[in-house]
Amino acid sequence: MTAKQSSLLEQADARESLIEATEVHKTYDTGKLTVQALKGVSLHIQRGEIVAIMGPSGCGKTTLLNCLSGLDSVSSGIVQIAGQDIRGFSDRELTAFRAHEMGFVFQTYNLLPVLTGLENVELPLLVSGVSSREARVRARASIERVGLLDWARHRPAEMSGGQRQRFAIARALATMPSIVWADEPTGALDSTTSQEIIDLMLDLNREHGLTFVWVTHAMEVARQAHRLVTMRDGLIENDRSFKAETSVPLAMETPPLSSRGQESRQSYD
Ligand SMILES: Nc1ncnc2c1ncn2[C@@H]1O[C@H](COP(=O)(O)OP(=O)(O)OP(=O)(O)O)[C@@H](O)[C@H]1O
Ligand SMILES: [Mg+2]
Repeated sequence: MTAKQSSLLEQADARESLIEATEVHKTYDTGKLTVQALKGVSLHIQRGEIVAIMGPSGCGKTTLLNCLSGLDSVSSGIVQIAGQDIRGFSDRELTAFRAHEMGFVFQTYNLLPVLTGLENVELPLLVSGVSSREARVRARASIERVGLLDWARHRPAEMSGGQRQRFAIARALATMPSIVWADEPTGALDSTTSQEIIDLMLDLNREHGLTFVWVTHAMEVARQAHRLVTMRDGLIENDRSFKAETSVPLAMETPPLSSRGQESRQSYD
């Protein structure tokens, strides 16, 4: 992590917004067609919150996730992470920041089929510069946390959907991120397995103050979040809290992000 990122994270108070988006616009120009996917979205996400995002297909949910996580650039507006405008980052800094501080979970798991479960979980650690030996130790700890150590040597094709999603969550957790973005994490699962995955994420939020953003089409998933943001046609239509208290106090038990260097990071188990 660079000095700039460390100083950025030192400024992050546990009660401060982790993500602040202000008047974010995103326009896709495909040459033939211009699509205004986001038309002025403002959203603050606090550390320790679980925010569900719902809305009809095409309303801009995935685009919002991509813009808030810095995977995609915004056309106008400001995205701040821990109080800093991410436009101030170089591409390299932003990539390193994402690798250290953000985890991603997708509907279709996005596990690499040629790698074992263990190797899939090791990958983001190796990308973020951890030694192969330490990557193995941390990946195993992360897989243990999701209860699948016995499956670590299996490839995704041999696993059920729920097991694949657990490995995807283990992969997202491996770098001890401060936020996990989950785009329809239960979209491909039956209702029992879906609830197991939600319970796992709720536990991780309670135990470690991990911040989650869930894009979902399922109200039974969304109502288990702390807050529900509904979108329509590139805009936030409604933003309501379900619970007054988030897991912020627990989040403060984890070391401040600034002090969580490679060596000092704790495992989630
Ligand atoms: N890379 C892209 N190039 C051009 N248009 C895009 C691109 N990505 C998204 N769009 C368009 O932006 C709009 C918002 O798309 P987005 O994927 O964010 O919707 P969504 O709410 O996630 O939908 P779904 O629920 O189906 O996943 C859509 O009209 C979509 O066609
Ligand atoms: Mg989407």
